[in-house]
Amino acid sequence: MELGVCYYPEHWPESRWPEDARLMVQAGLTRVRIGEFAWSRIEPEQGRFDWGWLDRAIDVLHGAGLGIIMGTPTATPPKWIVDAMPDMVAIDRDGKPRGFGSRRHYCFSHTGYAREAARITRAVAERYGSHPGVVAWQTDNEYGCHDTAQSFSSAARAAFRRWLADRYGTALSLNQAWGNVFWSMEYRSFDEIDLPNLTVTEANPAHWLAFRRFSSDQVVAFNRAQVEILRQCSPGRDITHNAMGFYTGYDHHDLAADLDVLGWDSYPLGFLEMFRFSEDDKRRFAHQGHPDIAAFHHDLYRGCARGGRWSVLEQQPGPVNWARHNPAPLPGMVRLWTLEAYAHGAELVSYFRWRQFPQAQEQMHAGLLRPDASPAPALAEARAAADDLATLTGGAPAKQAAVIFSYPAEWMTQIQPQGDGKSALWAAFNCYSALRRLGLNVDILSPDANLDGYALVIVPCLPIVPDALVASLQGFKGEVVIGPRSGSRGDDFAIPPTLAPGKLEQLVAGRVVLSESWRPGLGIEGEGWLATGWFDHLEGEATPDMTGIDGRVACWKHGRVRYAACWPEGSFIEAVVERAARDAGLPAEPLPDHIRHRRRGDTLFAFDYESAEVSITCGKDGSGRGSSADR
Ligand code: GAL
Repeated sequence: MELGVCYYPEHWPESRWPEDARLMVQAGLTRVRIGEFAWSRIEPEQGRFDWGWLDRAIDVLHGAGLGIIMGTPTATPPKWIVDAMPDMVAIDRDGKPRGFGSRRHYCFSHTGYAREAARITRAVAERYGSHPGVVAWQTDNEYGCHDTAQSFSSAARAAFRRWLADRYGTALSLNQAWGNVFWSMEYRSFDEIDLPNLTVTEANPAHWLAFRRFSSDQVVAFNRAQVEILRQCSPGRDITHNAMGFYTGYDHHDLAADLDVLGWDSYPLGFLEMFRFSEDDKRRFAHQGHPDIAAFHHDLYRGCARGGRWSVLEQQPGPVNWARHNPAPLPGMVRLWTLEAYAHGAELVSYFRWRQFPQAQEQMHAGLLRPDASPAPALAEARAAADDLATLTGGAPAKQAAVIFSYPAEWMTQIQPQGDGKSALWAAFNCYSALRRLGLNVDILSPDANLDGYALVIVPCLPIVPDALVASLQGFKGEVVIGPRSGSRGDDFAIPPTLAPGKLEQLVAGRVVLSESWRPGLGIEGEGWLATGWFDHLEGEATPDMTGIDGRVACWKHGRVRYAACWPEGSFIEAVVERAARDAGLPAEPLPDHIRHRRRGDTLFAFDYESAEVSITCGKDGSGRGSSADR
């Protein structure tokens, strides 16, 4: 695994660049990611390019021995482009334009902007495509960040109508697929169909699902246009993009199919603060991050990536500027996060960013250097991680348990939660966390992935079940857990004629005849578990596996398949997962809740997210020097 850093030479005087490059190498870094926001400096006016500074910056970095990951600058279209075509900006859900003055203000469907993006991509790729210092390309920056995957512009509406015509052929078949007879929503032609944002009450969920799919396809197409240019102008270099945490605005399986390496941006403290963790966890792990945040994304994106190649393109090095509260990592955390990425198989960890810029939006965001160029604590930690890495030997991760997740599943639970917070993504996170608390290696897979080699597969919440998954589950020899809402919808959001779990009925040996969602405080209490949030009433041949003291069945079993009838959360899903893992013959041992394990090759990594200092012994003689078998 390489270590790298995100660097903005345009922020600093040219006379400083050689010293920066020297310090990077001294810190053990071998990669530097540049250029993704530099459009206004590369092309200050339409057609007038200023390559000189970037040529020199690349030469300095390359000369110091660093490999360059070059960004295409399309996330920050400069003012002159917006002035030349004001309708290129995205329109938000309330119908308001997204103004100039930050970033990501473009609409994915605007053909004029698509031409500009292709033009600048080609210009940069032609200039540096065969430069020996450029080892990889990053397209754009964080597609969808700041809620930008969807745009409600007239360009998006026109493109959506074309997309619908391709998918459904006739307005009549769209009406039938969506059930538009309901509330007299029938259309006579595709030209009558608007975007689903400004309806009086909720729009038809099928309409929203189509728009989510369309918006995702627009992101994928925008990216693909850049990838094609980069492949032409810079053959042999990897192409990557940086995905985000807990973000589902586009289908990452689709995007990653066009990339060589899928990157993601890891901000464990920011994510803990901003996402749905308990107040207790937010306090307890404020300086470490919840023990599953980074790992969940490592495993999710490894599962999305073509050939399993993934990296961390941005790693938090200190406080960020964008969360509600922005604490500093504990001493040692940056090193721990780096090694954890290694344990999960990353090819690169790149810290964001080299030096804290004293102006503009991110002036409070840490770097490896402080604004005055003195070293911030993470610089020494990067060096320590580089030294650690030099002693590690790699090896393939052991296959144990898999969690199935799809992006459309999350879109559907967002569109129609049917109960506060019932999200497929968080159902997957909870299952992942439960498996990890048993010390297991977990892969997060798409529904059409190969299940060979796993002992346990969990389908936490998958409303649309592709035929490929039914077939692979039927042939699968290990234990299976299927969660609520799985198989509960067809491709256009209709309840299947045979009711949920639809195509999974045979495996589950039951049908869901009623689904309820429950407010906090309601639940089924069992021995050592409490099942909450949701309750599917199942009828069929399956036998009760976990029955509450009031006689209600929270989990069913048929052969090696369990059906979790309550929401996959809390002590309930922990109990289900533990039973399934034991039946699967996995070495499942509950760990303290701040410890996580990861097996790679013959190495067992143990990561302790507790803030207290502890001493440990390992190895047969307790010397701390285990043999390779018990290390
Ligand atoms: C990321 C983004 C970076 C920077 C960083 C700050 O989302 O890609 O450009 O803004 O956050 O944490």
